[in-house]
Amino acid sequence: MKIKTSEIVISAVGPKQYPEDLLPEIAMVGRSNVGKSSTINTLLNRRKLARVSQNPGKTRTINFYIINKEFYLVDLPGYGYAKVSKTERASWGKIMETYLSTRTNLQEVVLLVDIRHEPTEDDKLMYDWIKHYGYGTIVVATKSDKISRSQQQKQFKIIREALQMNPEDKIVAISSLKKEGIDKLWGAIEDLFTA
Ligand code: GTP
Ligand code: MG
Repeated sequence: MKIKTSEIVISAVGPKQYPEDLLPEIAMVGRSNVGKSSTINTLLNRRKLARVSQNPGKTRTINFYIINKEFYLVDLPGYGYAKVSKTERASWGKIMETYLSTRTNLQEVVLLVDIRHEPTEDDKLMYDWIKHYGYGTIVVATKSDKISRSQQQKQFKIIREALQMNPEDKIVAISSLKKEGIDKLWGAIEDLFTA
């Protein structure tokens, strides 16, 4: 993918603020702190477009990034972050759920999981949800710099089994730290678009 332009269009909390131009959208979903915002920066070769933090719960709105004026990458708040109040969690949950369940422009959902850990119950629910609604999906295993290459294959197997992934769904390892896996992930995204 040749990135000619990338910019943020809006940080939205509700449907009234979603972009109106009906371009296809690819959403990034996953646990808080898994690396969704970092992956967007890495894919776009931008250091600070999407805001990143060591503390989970950084992204609290739905952020729409327009690429080449052709499609959007959509950064969502993460789930499963325990250290916020119930009300706040419910509010992010609602923001996310409204987007995912009503957005007709949504074409693909990229599910990010930490390569080091077995997927959580929330991850399993998310994967099942994506399949139920028939979206094209890619599972991205983040922070691949944290384990060795031989370990990666083992973790892939654990992730595939835990999520009960369709054999045809792709799993791609990515490291935003080392800038690895970017071409593979773009390739997988493009394959889904043309499928
Ligand atoms: P929320 O917005 O809270 O849902 O988190 P997020 O999924 O957007 O995660 P974010 O991109 O903010 O990254 C969380 C932390 O993980 C930051 O400290 C990042 O620097 C770190 N991180 C992200 N990607 C990588 C990676 O590939 N390797 C390593 N080692 N750290 C990473
Ligand atoms: Mg984020």
